[in-house]
Amino acid sequence: MSQRTLVLLKPDTVRRGLVGEVLGRFEAKGLSIVALDFRTIDADTADQHYAEHVERDFYPPLRDFVTSGPLVALVLEGDEAIEVVRALNGATDGRKAAPGTIRGDLSLSNRENLVHGSDSPESADREIKIWFPDLP
Ligand code: CMP
Repeated sequence: MSQRTLVLLKPDTVRRGLVGEVLGRFEAKGLSIVALDFRTIDADTADQHYAEHVERDFYPPLRDFVTSGPLVALVLEGDEAIEVVRALNGATDGRKAAPGTIRGDLSLSNRENLVHGSDSPESADREIKIWFPDLP
């Protein structure tokens, strides 16, 4: 079933010059880019996006990180796109993520883990509306 998912290439991806590498993995897999934007977000947008995490201990430094510089927000579309993107991203903690995944190959951090992918169809709908409210 074709799905859409919200993906972020977080500020560490941009700072490290890995946008092409990471985007290339999604494109090579066969996912289609249906929206893409390069932007720096404020704390309110971070709080909206990470609404389920705002009370967690790890959230304040995560908010500082995701607002620390430009990121790339995109919507990807394809068969089972939500699970496919999560598999390509790998486990949250880059130190534990499997080799072959984006985080497993390119991240050594639990916070600066390069990418975000929606974790369910409900999250994808909610997140796409936050980042791309005008997307048909
Ligand atoms: P993401 O997939 O964007 O979803 C929540 C983010 O919080 C996660 O990627 C990490 O960047 C960050 N995160 C999750 N757990 C921790 C943790 N224990 N310590 C630091 N950052 C975390």
